Amino acid sequence: MNKALSARLFTTIILTGAFLAGTLHASAQAAAAPAKGEAPKTAEQVFKNIQVLKGTPADQLETGMQFISNSLGVECEFCHVQGAREKDDKKTKQTARKMIEMQMAINKNHFNGDREVTCYSCHHGAERPAGVPMIAEEEPKRPQVPAEEAALPSADQIIDKYIQAVGGAESLQKITSRVQKATISFGERQFPAEVVAKAPNKRISTVHTPNGDNITAFDGQAGWLGNPGGRPPRDMNPQENEAFSFDATFYLPLEIKKMFTQLRVRPADKIGSHEVYQVIGTSPGKPPLRMFFDKVSGLLMRTIRYAESPLGRNPTQVDYAEYRLDSGIRLPFQWTVARPLGRFTIQVSEIQQNVPVDDSKFAKPAAAAPAPAEQKPPAK
Ligand code: HEC
Ligand code: HEC
Repeated sequence: MNKALSARLFTTIILTGAFLAGTLHASAQAAAAPAKGEAPKTAEQVFKNIQVLKGTPADQLETGMQFISNSLGVECEFCHVQGAREKDDKKTKQTARKMIEMQMAINKNHFNGDREVTCYSCHHGAERPAGVPMIAEEEPKRPQVPAEEAALPSADQIIDKYIQAVGGAESLQKITSRVQKATISFGERQFPAEVVAKAPNKRISTVHTPNGDNITAFDGQAGWLGNPGGRPPRDMNPQENEAFSFDATFYLPLEIKKMFTQLRVRPADKIGSHEVYQVIGTSPGKPPLRMFFDKVSGLLMRTIRYAESPLGRNPTQVDYAEYRLDSGIRLPFQWTVARPLGRFTIQVSEIQQNVPVDDSKFAKPAAAAPAPAEQKPPAK
């Protein structure tokens, strides 16, 4: 990724749109939320110039757009006029429309309507797909046939070992709140941050940037994002809600078995030097969640989750490291959140457990003024 692009993505991910690179403005988000008892709005009901994505849920448009950006390795402005995304001035946007139609047609005509071919199948992170196979830098590794398939433990065994590894159910439940001071690193930039969590499922993380606080919060029912620069906080879209309700699960090790209708165990490649088991959690109508547990220590090392969109799934990988013992339980003191176009690492420096935290800490503040019609990202 070139420097200028990564710098702009930094602005998108950290400064203007909280951790999820949410870049739709608040009024569109609010408009996408259906009123009680109403059918969810479609993209063309909420946005101004939808021609090929007609009929898709409005609240999936943003995830779909992120999927396109991820697949081509570009930012939104590759196709969009800043501040007027409905305009068709850029040739790339017009091409993209034809490509969306092509993707739909390929899947309909050749894959029984299953979404097998996506932008990424051809583009692989490039603006223009390569049509000629690449010559690798090194002798390519031949995939090894996994010999141990039969010898895998059950999901229950892996999760029970995880519960023991973090200190056991009893020790976990003795802790009901947690305040962590941390540093967030995004490439070479660092900001102070704070994560406050409370059982059973409240969490708020605040990144103190020079432009103001960037907040990602789950109040126990729903998530919201607070932007620096005085813009009103906005509700999370359904994909964001799904992701952050998972992050907010205070007794995660004890909840995993209840979260999914099915847990399957699969072999997996090593993570660094660690041998791991992969547990895949699935529930009807939802993308799967992959969890990777250290074979020796039993600890959770990685999760990979997916945000669904009409065009494809956006992956997010979280790597947990530096597990340390505090108040009888073992916690990761470092985690890295990685997406196709960027990553950041949180390093915890200070931890306090069982400190009183009022529920109001997690509540979305009331918006002071109506959302501005169109917002500009901060000057770069
Ligand atoms: C490769 C081109 C491309 C990229 C990159 C892209 N988009 Fe789009 N976007 C489109 C196309 C094409 C449409 C129109 C879809 C249709 O006609 O159904 C669209 C429509 C939209 C709309 C609806 C505008 C309206 O009012 O009609 C929004 C909002 C939007 N995109 C946001 C984004 C965001 C945010 C990003 C970056 C995360 C992004 N787009 C990246 C091609 C792109
Ligand atoms: C079946 C393969 C395939 C799929 C699937 C595909 N593309 Fe493409 N795309 C291409 C090829 C090949 C080109 C280059 C054409 C050329 O060089 O003239 C291209 C070019 C483009 C361009 C123009 C890039 C430029 O620099 O001008 C855009 C934008 C684009 N695709 C967007 C998308 C989007 C968005 C999707 C998913 C909805 C998608 N493509 C899916 C094969 C594909």
